[in-house]
Amino acid sequence: MRWPVLGPMRASGMAIFFSFTLAKPSRITYNIFKYTEEEDGLAREMVIVLDFGGQYNQLIARRVRECNVYCEVHPYTLSLEKIKEMNPKGIIFTGGPNSVYDEASPHYQKEIFEAGIPILGICYGSQLIAWSLGGTVETAPVSEYGHTKVEVDKSSVLFQDVEFSTVAWMSHTDYIAQAPEGFRVTARTPVCPVAAMECPERRIYATQFHPEVMHTKEGHKMLQRFVYDVCGCAGDWQMGSFVEETIRQIREKVGEGKVLCALSGGVDSSVAAVLLSKAIGKQLTCVFVDHGLLRKNEGNEVEAVFGPEGPYELNFIRVNAQQRYYEKLKGITEPEQKRKIIGEEFIRVFEEEAKKIGAVDFLVQGTIYPDVIESGLGKSAVIKSHHNVGGLPDVVDFKEIIEPLRMLFKDEVRKAGLELGIPEYLVYRQPFPGPGLGIRIIGEVTEEKVRIVQDADYIYREEIAKAGLDKGLGQYFAGLTNMRSVGVMGDFRTYDYAVALRAVNTSDFMTAECAQIPYEVLFKVTSRIINEVKGVNRVMYDLTSKPPGTIEFE
Ligand code: XMP
Repeated sequence: MRWPVLGPMRASGMAIFFSFTLAKPSRITYNIFKYTEEEDGLAREMVIVLDFGGQYNQLIARRVRECNVYCEVHPYTLSLEKIKEMNPKGIIFTGGPNSVYDEASPHYQKEIFEAGIPILGICYGSQLIAWSLGGTVETAPVSEYGHTKVEVDKSSVLFQDVEFSTVAWMSHTDYIAQAPEGFRVTARTPVCPVAAMECPERRIYATQFHPEVMHTKEGHKMLQRFVYDVCGCAGDWQMGSFVEETIRQIREKVGEGKVLCALSGGVDSSVAAVLLSKAIGKQLTCVFVDHGLLRKNEGNEVEAVFGPEGPYELNFIRVNAQQRYYEKLKGITEPEQKRKIIGEEFIRVFEEEAKKIGAVDFLVQGTIYPDVIESGLGKSAVIKSHHNVGGLPDVVDFKEIIEPLRMLFKDEVRKAGLELGIPEYLVYRQPFPGPGLGIRIIGEVTEEKVRIVQDADYIYREEIAKAGLDKGLGQYFAGLTNMRSVGVMGDFRTYDYAVALRAVNTSDFMTAECAQIPYEVLFKVTSRIINEVKGVNRVMYDLTSKPPGTIEFE
């Protein structure tokens, strides 16, 4: 399946392209996160996000789900007939890179405004509403980008809980110069005469700014008011419903079929595997490749949970491929090359196992939403090639892919894990990248360096847990720099490696801030690493946020 290639981000003034290929075109990708009617025939309340190509589409859906209202993103090509059939409580038009007055831009048939379904338009979506209903949209004399002071009309239902003067996130070059007849303007900035508008009688609302991004200080209140007060949602959707619904869908889809899953032991693939095991038990086979780049003791821990002694019903195969990986990585220092080798080797090992198993009906991947976007931001903007997106589909003989977590953010995956009864220590396990310690060892990977970073990381995690900080932190780990420096230990000169400690706070892993770990804890960790881990004579703490850094070192 090939996702749409978007044009340059005109609305934000940036040139970003979004394109990736997931599987062979002949294969169908099964989007498990799909709306279905309840068995009793009653449709559950749902809001649809109609995607016009903006950057924050899934973020809007996530914000709506945070209001306990089920939400799905669909392309703007979804027909009005289909929308009516789905019977949503509301529709949100997203932003997008185009100008509404370009004929080639994505538009929607005007009848949607007569369907009696509440609509909220955001950025391009707001301009589309204005343009479709007879207002004027023009290129703004000055583009607004970033934090912007907005004055709102508090008599608007959207803004009733919001300060009169609030801060919103703007990202546009076009703007609504004149609202359509019957609409009233409900927010302004010095640049934007129509920063928000509404026609309550027709239940149509629009904001030029993005209420879904965190930089819009009170955006969540606006979205809440839209889904509760305008759409009339009860807000009774919970992650438990997602889990139940997904299990039901998997059973229905898989039938008697055979399913294969690549299990890494990380949070995402573990949640995906448990979801599948609950749905179809022994029809599921999980292959766990120990590439020798796992955290200390992790291989055995994964086997203890998912292997024959563990609580789950599934077929578990562990492949010990450590030496094979170390051989392949000998002499390789370039981060992308390392990632590619680790990813490719994973595919080779998996292919060998898959051949032994023979044809399967479904392949499961634990892909989550941030993996999709970070791997997919076009050629010039590939930040890191996440090896859990793509690859396997080409070597496994299967009919369809199941990606049950594809539309979820990390914290939502954790919630799903808890719903599934997965133990907390597994659910709150530190996120661990597919390429493992390979991207936490800067430069060449050797067995010795793996041992150093495993031991240092183990100590770090142990001390963080002892200090009671483990649940509050987004992600923390030790990495190994490729710097060696001179030190003195006892009466001897040393020339050893420097370990870098990293800890960040983040809610979605797309941006992150360095965590302020108390000095006493850092001192304790440093002293233990120096004393207990052979080959290390210096420990550093990384203060960089993301951006400009990334969370991992490579
Ligand atoms: P970065 O380093 O890109 O990390 O800021 C963001 C989050 O993604 C994880 N990460 C990966 N996860 N495969 C994965 O499954 C990968 O190739 C990969 N690279 C980074 C990282 O640990 C952090 O949680």
